[in-house]
Amino acid sequence: MRKFLVILLSALLLISVVSFAKENALEIFSWWTGGGEEEGLQALFKLYHHYYPDVKIINAAVAGGAGTNAKAVLKTRMLGHNPPDSFQVHAGMELIDTYVIPGMMEPITWILKDMGALDKFPKAILDMCSYKGEVYSIPVNVHRANVVFYNKKIAAKIGMDQPPQTWHQFVYYLNKAKEMGYVGLALGDKNKWTSLHLFESLMLAELGPEAYNGLWKGETSFNNTGIKRALEIMKEMLKYINSDHAAMTWQDAVRLVYEGKAFATVMGDWAEGYLKTLGWTPGVEFGWFALPGTQDSFMVVSDTFGLPKGAPHRENAIKWLKLLASVEAQDIFNPIKGSIPARLDADKSKYDVYLKWSMNDFATKHLTPSIIHGSAAPEAFATALMDAINKFVSTRNVDKTFKEILMIADDNGYNTK
Ligand code: GAL
Repeated sequence: MRKFLVILLSALLLISVVSFAKENALEIFSWWTGGGEEEGLQALFKLYHHYYPDVKIINAAVAGGAGTNAKAVLKTRMLGHNPPDSFQVHAGMELIDTYVIPGMMEPITWILKDMGALDKFPKAILDMCSYKGEVYSIPVNVHRANVVFYNKKIAAKIGMDQPPQTWHQFVYYLNKAKEMGYVGLALGDKNKWTSLHLFESLMLAELGPEAYNGLWKGETSFNNTGIKRALEIMKEMLKYINSDHAAMTWQDAVRLVYEGKAFATVMGDWAEGYLKTLGWTPGVEFGWFALPGTQDSFMVVSDTFGLPKGAPHRENAIKWLKLLASVEAQDIFNPIKGSIPARLDADKSKYDVYLKWSMNDFATKHLTPSIIHGSAAPEAFATALMDAINKFVSTRNVDKTFKEILMIADDNGYNTK
């Protein structure tokens, strides 16, 4: 009887998988579920629908982002041979180490070749999407992670007429804001990645771009006073955060700035997309600056989409990837998302004053890969570091956390001499 039930259930499962595969559909996985991000995704879906009206788009987005349930859901599906047709994945180790090396992705260099677009992307970004000479994903954007967004009205009240250049100047304004009854620095680390997001930019500030990049090549040791100083600065910064940070998402933190309750927040420029969907205009209600100490660097976060082996609707997925690689799609998506296009030949006139600033910096500054946004290091390292930094937000114990970082780096084969 039991055996019969198992056979029956397996048959039913097979029938549903086969009929799903037969359906003229396109299933896209991401963690873009709201607050500026969903609007960008919907704009892409709308464009796809315009060209392929008969394809039913299934939005399989799961909220969260780095180190959260969203990535676990995707990984379980991939390991269980139940891939979506295409999925959001960061350029760099998250793509290569997690999915390409284990053999779960199809090479898609041919798509860019067919489109004559192989030379239309920055080499640095395409390299992050490539392994052994083949491209494995299409970069749809470039976000910058090391940015401070601030409320201009509050800035005026605290007397900030120039963006701070140094850490001490920044703390001076955070303190002024606090004295005037505002939250200095809004943080929302309900999803733990945001605290490492802040810390990795402080690491960059204290190490400088060359030494920071050297960490991933074994040229810089983690046993470095720069990393310890970054912890000390973070400890100082944490004096100015909102007390309910652990119950908030990054969008909630951005909202504190928008609602005039907080002076500033350190966030990737998806926050710019979000502020715009709330109705703000860059340069009018909000301003921005690179986190002091990181003015010469651009912490790169690039969202890409690839083609998993066994995609149930492979042909539709290929159409999706071709669309993402087009100037048209990139110029529709990025002004909403708060990111710059990955394509070099995009139409600059479509981008606002913030994004033009970002484009200029991307072309002229040192590029540094983000840890928590999947580019610099394998997932195991990023997750362990995220947990350690998240604990640090409560303990604020610099020595203990520094030792923990060294252990994590050592476990993952990095230089700790
Ligand atoms: C990043 C992603 C961005 C944005 C952000 C917050 O990892 O690259 O596109 O979605 O998370 O969710």
